[in-house]
Amino acid sequence: MTILTLTPANLREYRALRLAALHEQPPAFGTPAEKEEKLPLEAMASRLQASKDTYILGAFSDDSLVGTIRFSRFEETNEKHRGFIAGLYVRPEVRRRGIARALATEVLARARRDTGLRRIHLTVVTAQEAAIQLYKSLGFRIYGTEHEAFSNQGQFYDEYLMELLLQSKTK
Ligand SMILES: CC(C)(COP(=O)(O)OP(=O)(O)OC[C@H]1O[C@@H](n2cnc3c(N)ncnc32)[C@H](O)[C@@H]1OP(=O)(O)O)[C@@H](O)C(=O)NCCC(=O)NCCS
Repeated sequence: MTILTLTPANLREYRALRLAALHEQPPAFGTPAEKEEKLPLEAMASRLQASKDTYILGAFSDDSLVGTIRFSRFEETNEKHRGFIAGLYVRPEVRRRGIARALATEVLARARRDTGLRRIHLTVVTAQEAAIQLYKSLGFRIYGTEHEAFSNQGQFYDEYLMELLLQSKTK
C-alpha cells in the first residue's frame, strides 16, 4: 500500500471513490451524493490542487485508489493555527488492514512538522464507531456533540466534535 498526495491527474478515480463513499454511508458525510454527482469536474479537480495547507491523501493498493483523507488548514490569519480532517474513507473490501490508520497517521505527522499548527479538529457522526475508535486511538478527544447535524431519509444524526492538541497551549 502506498500513500500519495492526490493531484488533478487522479480526478477520475477520486470521483469514483468519493461517490462510492457518499452512496455507501450517506449519514457518514455531510455532502449529499446527488449534490456531489452534479459537481462540475473542474470544481472537483480544483479540490485536488494540493498545497502544504490543503490536500487529499490517497491510499493505493495494486495501483488502485482504495482510501482517502482530506486535510485543510483554516485560512484566516487568526485561525491558521488550526487544521481540519475530513473525508476519511476506505473501500469495504480492504478494511481492517490498517489503511485508515496509515492515512490519518500521515496527516498527523505532516501537521506535527508544521510548528504553526496547534490543533486538529474533526466532526464524526456518532454512529460511525470504527472511525471514532480510530480517532480516539490517535489521541483525539470528544469535546462536544452537535445534535441532529444531518438528516437522511427522515432520520436525524448527531455528530461528535473531536480535537487533538498538537502542542502545549502554553507555548
Ligand atoms: C472508518 C474507516 C475509514 C476505517 O478504515 P480501516 O482501513 O478499516 O481502518 P483501520 O484498519 O486502519 O483500523 C484503524 C482502527 O479503526 C478502528 N476500527 C476499524 N474498523 C473497526 C470496526 N469495524 N469496529 C471497531 N473499530 C474499528 C480500530 O480502532 C482500528 O484499530 P485496530 O485495528 O488497532 O483495532 C472505514 O471503516 C470507513 O471507511 N468507514 C465508513 C466511512 C466513515 O465512517 N468515515 C469516517 C468519517 S469521519
